Amino acid sequence: MAYPKVTVVGAGQVGATTAFLLATKGLADVVLVDVAEGLPQGKALDMMHGRSVELFGPRVTGTNTYEETAGSDVVVMTAGLPRKPGMTRDDLLAANSAILRGVVEQAVAASPDAVLVCVTNPLDMMAYLAWKVSGLPSSRVIGMGGVLDSARFAYAISEATGTPIDDVSALVVGAHGDAMVPLPRLSLAGGQPLTEVLPPERVEDLVRRTVGGGAEVVSLLKTGSAFYAPAASVTKMVESILSDADWLLPSCVLLEGQYGIDGVYLSVPAVLGRAGVVEVPEIALTPEELAQLRASAATVAEGVASLELGG
Ligand code: APR
Repeated sequence: MAYPKVTVVGAGQVGATTAFLLATKGLADVVLVDVAEGLPQGKALDMMHGRSVELFGPRVTGTNTYEETAGSDVVVMTAGLPRKPGMTRDDLLAANSAILRGVVEQAVAASPDAVLVCVTNPLDMMAYLAWKVSGLPSSRVIGMGGVLDSARFAYAISEATGTPIDDVSALVVGAHGDAMVPLPRLSLAGGQPLTEVLPPERVEDLVRRTVGGGAEVVSLLKTGSAFYAPAASVTKMVESILSDADWLLPSCVLLEGQYGIDGVYLSVPAVLGRAGVVEVPEIALTPEELAQLRASAATVAEGVASLELGG
């Protein structure tokens, strides 16, 4: 059977886990790319050794160059440094923007028709940079932030309320960082808005845990940052794209006037299909929620301004 082709750049924690999920779920052949010699080849071989156990059809290959990535349907970018304890995602800006520029140029040259999905942090700024450097329409450059933040909120809600995880639907929009905007009013536990299930102070506590979820993992791990939930989140986005499912997923996309925000990459609910971002429907927010989202956008715009100044 012929599978779609996905390139995953960065064969570290997030990239390798994503490759394994894409393969074991039968979603795509994967080409893992990394600058570290032997790393992508070794991990790809290790995954292929598991083929007769997991019985998955796709192939995973590893490489240090881009020739084998040619003609990919989707390129997932995870290359770059992860956070260390005490670092914010923004502290990664200078190092990761230099890495990402090179990755985007080479990946797009090999796969000019691909949809790019950025995972490298600081996410919103890196997604914007990828769009600018790629020269692609913004519908084909997407970032992974909102799915992960919403998943963390869903976990917190499920644990606090005892609601089974598949009966929780959580929504977090905005920047993938301290300025993210969890939306308790639009998050449901057992079909009920969270604001009606828990008192305000408990809701606030879950919001705090969600915003700090990534940092909590970093401080426990001591080396590196989260990767299982990030890999699961990007895999979900890639599945919606490859299978043209048109799922509405909180995704980091270019806003062009929606919510009164223009020219900023930020997570909002977006329809993802074979063409990339198919639609960004504007969901109804209260004035207060809207103000929070715009404040969140302002923090990203500041970071992007420093990028454009070469900072
Ligand atoms: N091209 C390809 N791969 C690169 C490049 C490059 N120019 N520069 C670095 N890499 C590779 C590293 O060799 C490493 O294997 O990127 C990989 C990153 O893996 P990890 O250090 O394990 O980091 P990971 O936890 O996967 O996070 C990657 O995703 O979630 C974000 O904040 C996180 O920005 C970080 C990224």
